[in-house]
Amino acid sequence: MNCKLLRASALLLLFIAISSAQTLREKAFKTGVMIGAAVNVHYLSEAAYASTLSREFNMLEPEDAMKWEALRPDEKTFDFGDADRIVEFARTHDMKVRGHNLLWGSHNPDWLTRGRYSSQKLSTLLHDHITRVVNHFSNKVFAWDVVNEAFDEKGKLRDSIWYNQPGIGAVGTAYIEQAFRWAYEAEPHTLLFYNEAEAEELNPKSDAIYAMLQDFRKRGVPINGVGFQMHIYNLTPDFASITANFARFSKLGIQIHITEMDVALPVTENGNVKDSADLARQAEIYAGIVKICLQTPGCTAIQTWGVTDKYSWLGWATHQTKGAGLLFDRQYHPKPAYEALEQALNKQPLQQN
Ligand code: XIL
Repeated sequence: MNCKLLRASALLLLFIAISSAQTLREKAFKTGVMIGAAVNVHYLSEAAYASTLSREFNMLEPEDAMKWEALRPDEKTFDFGDADRIVEFARTHDMKVRGHNLLWGSHNPDWLTRGRYSSQKLSTLLHDHITRVVNHFSNKVFAWDVVNEAFDEKGKLRDSIWYNQPGIGAVGTAYIEQAFRWAYEAEPHTLLFYNEAEAEELNPKSDAIYAMLQDFRKRGVPINGVGFQMHIYNLTPDFASITANFARFSKLGIQIHITEMDVALPVTENGNVKDSADLARQAEIYAGIVKICLQTPGCTAIQTWGVTDKYSWLGWATHQTKGAGLLFDRQYHPKPAYEALEQALNKQPLQQN
């Protein structure tokens, strides 16, 4: 081998070494799409958790610490302790924070759900909550899930304390609209999202959300984006349907965030993957979703619902039958899904938002 060729090969090897040493957040930064993870305050003190989180992700979202249940021990009190600790971690590590969430029919404190409040009182409570919480985190939270999971799989509004049991006194989607207006009043610079489960594909639920957002956009209701949770429980997501669904929301001129992605695999009682071939399929799914996001104008964030398979809500959500849905295994080793996601980020051109 002559000298020039030798030097060129050495340079090429160096280039490969440097680029493969890049973390997800560095790769994601180049695409203009943020890469996030849901965070539980209890694990921040675990060195491997904290270092993986800060090394690989440039965005985070408190998994539970900003829900009513966590922030509101009683009617008069706001407890921002855990949420503040997570936000401080993000600040220290130059990460953006998504807020989750201001209004949901679930994970509300007992004093609220059992309080037999009148519509008028509930309306005041919600208005105060949104104002106080959005103000507390203004300049710290760049995007809020204002409303979470308001629709059922048939596209009907779910019964909830805020909607109709007894509700805040607003008919149909007007209660959702009201929450967005209050959030905007509190802080007009924060991005306001509607977040939903199982609305990634074209289906009655995503149709209903689409109709609502189309109406909101037409009438100037302050909304900046839609969050698709992307909890995937079977290994056969319909990529074409997701692509088409993302495209129609994108055309409304709003942003899209993938907010809670995990790809659940069948696991043994110890949480180990039953069939190692599933790991390859999981990797394909992560890559496929990243590809769709990068091809959709306005898709600006991809977030996984946790950091490591060691700590994931999936066991709880599936009676311990499924798990291992994330990018890092229980020992914090990157999984095939990590490599696939990294490759997918690599291949894509810089997107135009
Ligand atoms: C889950 C958390 O991961 C759990 O820790 C908690 O016990 C229940 O809530 N959709 C959402 C999230 O919007 O807030 C949920 O998070 C998962 C489903």
